[in-house]
Amino acid sequence: MASEPVNVSEFQELARQALPKMYYDFYAGGAEDQQTLEENVKAFHRIIIRPRILVDVSRVDMSTTILGYNTSAPIMVAPTALHKLAHPEVATARAAAACGTIMALSFTSMCTVEEVASSCNAVRFFQLYVYKKREISALMVQRAERNGFKAIILTADTPRLGRREADIKNKMISPQLKNLEGLVSTEVHTDKGSNMEAFASRTLDASLCWKDIGWLKSITSLPILIKGILTREDAIKAVEVGVAGIVVSNHGARQLDYSPATITVLEEVILAVRGRIPVLFDGGVRRGTDIFKALALGARAVMIGRPIIYGLAAKGEDGVRRVLSMLKDELELTMALSGCCSVKDITRRHVMTEQDRLH
Ligand code: FNR
Repeated sequence: MASEPVNVSEFQELARQALPKMYYDFYAGGAEDQQTLEENVKAFHRIIIRPRILVDVSRVDMSTTILGYNTSAPIMVAPTALHKLAHPEVATARAAAACGTIMALSFTSMCTVEEVASSCNAVRFFQLYVYKKREISALMVQRAERNGFKAIILTADTPRLGRREADIKNKMISPQLKNLEGLVSTEVHTDKGSNMEAFASRTLDASLCWKDIGWLKSITSLPILIKGILTREDAIKAVEVGVAGIVVSNHGARQLDYSPATITVLEEVILAVRGRIPVLFDGGVRRGTDIFKALALGARAVMIGRPIIYGLAAKGEDGVRRVLSMLKDELELTMALSGCCSVKDITRRHVMTEQDRLH
């Protein structure tokens, strides 16, 4: 691609060219038939924006708060593993900070929480996996807390790793996870397929359940968000166990294929939660219009997964900055062209879903 990328999809192509196939496939891939992977993006295309005209939009303010923390726009960096296969996590952290964006650091990051914390001053959240050896997860929570992370995002959709066939074919390596150095060995030797999968099945605690939220609360004073909610039933349970927020997510379609595209279940969750806790959203966000649609359906903010990695792989820290800036610019323009001066102005009446068209 000779010219500079003008949108997130073009960054994806640059990343594909820049990365070894094994790593690109790991980042880009989804589970099994990748039906949900495709739908996560396509379901956005079926939602139509209802713009309002003759509104004074000479000033558009995208700023908002997430768990009480100010952010330049309703956009966050989703927790994604293994940035250093492309570029170290500290680069992502610096870019997020420069854009006034909250980053969620993955438990399975290749830089340590300490390295990320000392890379620059910013509000950051820490994503948690619960391991069979609970003391490892507890220690990571303490380290995140000690290093100024402001919330714990418990990923609850991964009792086992989804079946990612590209990783199986490529015999995806299980890289050094500096964050977990000394706590767990990433040495796995399987000639059967994905070493990541073998590592995950050795470590992840498949017995994790709702009562364990009590345990997590007992070991941290940080607010807890549950990531991976896709149904009203689980949204209600999350409110009942008293977490600070939830993330509507299907893990970027990397876990259960044929689980719903996240944007199609957002409203169900919003209606169940009834404003009692904030609802974040991720999956398939590639445009400012996608962010606008998620906000119109009730999300407090969206998290961006793959596009951040594509920016990172293509152009390092600057690439992440540019991806975030592109999405922010696109959202700002969408707001202006829809007659919304602030995120509070974006309402349910600004979008028409497939459901709406049926009724
Ligand atoms: C992820 N995701 C993820 N989630 C999590 O809770 N912990 C993790 O370590 C990871 N790792 C990870 C790696 C890669 C390469 C991807 C693509 C995704 C899921 C992530 O947080 C988020 O839910 C999705 O990425 C959102 O979908 P999009 O934006 O990638 O479409």
